[in-house]
Amino acid sequence: MDATPATARFSFEPFAETAEYLAVNRAALSNLGRYISGAVRRVLDLATGVGTMVQLGREQIPALHEAMVVCIDASREAIIAGRRRLSGEPNLHWLQAFAQQLPLKGPFDLTTFGNGIHNLSHEDKLAALKDVFRVTAPGGLLFFNSAFYEGTVVEGTEGFYRAKILRAVAELKQMGVPRSKEGRAEARNWLKPEEYAELVRAAGFEIVYLGQREVRVYREGWRLICEYADYAAGALHGYPVDIAAKVLSRAVVSVLDEMGFLDEHGQRYIPRRWLEVIARKAPG
Ligand SMILES: C[S@@+](CC[C@H](N)C(=O)[O-])C[C@H]1O[C@@H](n2cnc3c(N)ncnc32)[C@H](O)[C@@H]1O
Repeated sequence: MDATPATARFSFEPFAETAEYLAVNRAALSNLGRYISGAVRRVLDLATGVGTMVQLGREQIPALHEAMVVCIDASREAIIAGRRRLSGEPNLHWLQAFAQQLPLKGPFDLTTFGNGIHNLSHEDKLAALKDVFRVTAPGGLLFFNSAFYEGTVVEGTEGFYRAKILRAVAELKQMGVPRSKEGRAEARNWLKPEEYAELVRAAGFEIVYLGQREVRVYREGWRLICEYADYAAGALHGYPVDIAAKVLSRAVVSVLDEMGFLDEHGQRYIPRRWLEVIARKAPG
């Protein structure tokens, strides 16, 4: 079963606008551009959210300027928000669908699957990658990235993650918020980079790039990540997600102020890593 229902909670937009998020995705797409040699006519953007990958992809990769893009997301709210946000962009088509059940034939020259694959169960990750393979043209590329994998926590920052959870749980207890016994959110079953590589190969692709990018995430970035319902649901599973998100975003700000590293301007941050994968379908 998929971890995200069709009525997926959609509170991601504010974090998607932060400087850190835009920078890490810009850098990833600029790197992707190095692997694109021929023309790119048709692009699939999976888990499109508010269309960040489409917007940054067109900005960073000249070959995408004229491409037709099909933007797919499981969430109706995402599709509505993305369509509104990119209303000035030409050649976009919006579709509510699951990545693991693509209602399309293709062929696509490129699929981008930004910051979304971790939301799927193991079974659905493989089903989605196989379905992307099915709709990819010979020689076509797949790109995905994620900050929810085994390796995202930078060594020496584990205490920050523990402290924010402990502080949030203490506050939830003090408020008398009950915790249900429901299981862990799927997003917490993080894969290692090599496990992602195995899934990609099992779907039929060959890996052409696998790397990790470290990013400094500052106060507002952490506050907005923690306000993101899916993050809060994963970090504080079992609590009502709206309350958990509010309490966690308060807790993270105070923990960051105490434990964050100081940058050259005296601003506090905690670094985090993003996994990036680029794969190719063998030319026909
Ligand atoms: C964090 S957003 C990423 C948005 C954008 N791609 C980016 O990189 O900024 C994750 C998106 O994945 C969508 N999503 C989750 N599960 C999905 C699935 N099985 N199929 C398609 N979209 C899914 C969510 O609705 C959400 O909009």
